[in-house]
Amino acid sequence: MKKINRRDFLYASKSIFCSLLCLGIAPFSIIAKTLDKASVSPEKGKKSILILYASFHGSTAQIAQFMGEKLNRQGITSSVKSINEHIDFSSYNGIIMGAPIHRGQWMDEAVDYVNKHRVNFDHLPFACFYTCMAKAKHPSSKESIEVLESYQATLIELFPSLSPSHIGSFAGMLDYDKCSFITKLVMWLIMSKNGVKEGDYRDWQAIESWLSETKKIYEI
Ligand SMILES: Cc1cc2nc3c(=O)[nH]c(=O)nc-3n(C[C@H](O)[C@H](O)[C@H](O)COP(=O)(O)O)c2cc1C
Repeated sequence: MKKINRRDFLYASKSIFCSLLCLGIAPFSIIAKTLDKASVSPEKGKKSILILYASFHGSTAQIAQFMGEKLNRQGITSSVKSINEHIDFSSYNGIIMGAPIHRGQWMDEAVDYVNKHRVNFDHLPFACFYTCMAKAKHPSSKESIEVLESYQATLIELFPSLSPSHIGSFAGMLDYDKCSFITKLVMWLIMSKNGVKEGDYRDWQAIESWLSETKKIYEI
């Protein structure tokens, strides 16, 4: 058997030591990398959209929820929040806000909210939508088209720099059982005159198409 001299021994020891060192460090570096990855929030660097809503009887809230689910399924982070919740606007890169039409304009609470928090709306890409029963009339008449144009005008007045294409207009839902006696009477008179019955007129496909077009403003 060949005798190992001191030089060979030192060379072999050094090689073994280096190999062990590499073997030892490699797993740690992998673990370190894995931990590093896990510590990065999955939302970091992602666009996050705030879907804000006001709703009296809940149908607009469900539209907001539907939009949020659609965006999340497409990998776009979004949070659906009522205007009654506390909101940290700094967490978002864009806003979509929806509310029903009441007596010819966006629900008072929604208008008040915008006026109170206007600074946040001015700095972020923004789109809005409204729900109403005038849109439920099929086929639409000259009168119902004019009514919808007047609703749109009130929103442009509220958001002067907003492009009309960023204002969604959706047929809503009306359930007389949820209305007070006076509201039921007034709505029944208006709806009867227009030949529209109470019910759920929400067109989920139309809502989805508007969302697909609108999300482009958020550079997603
Ligand atoms: C008090 C009240 C006033 C309304 N005023 C109008 C109106 O002026 N024009 C219209 O098209 N629809 C009107 N609607 C219908 C609502 O816009 C529609 O039902 C909407 O989908 C309700 O949304 P919500 O369920 O989120 O409250 C009114 C409804 C209520 C309860």
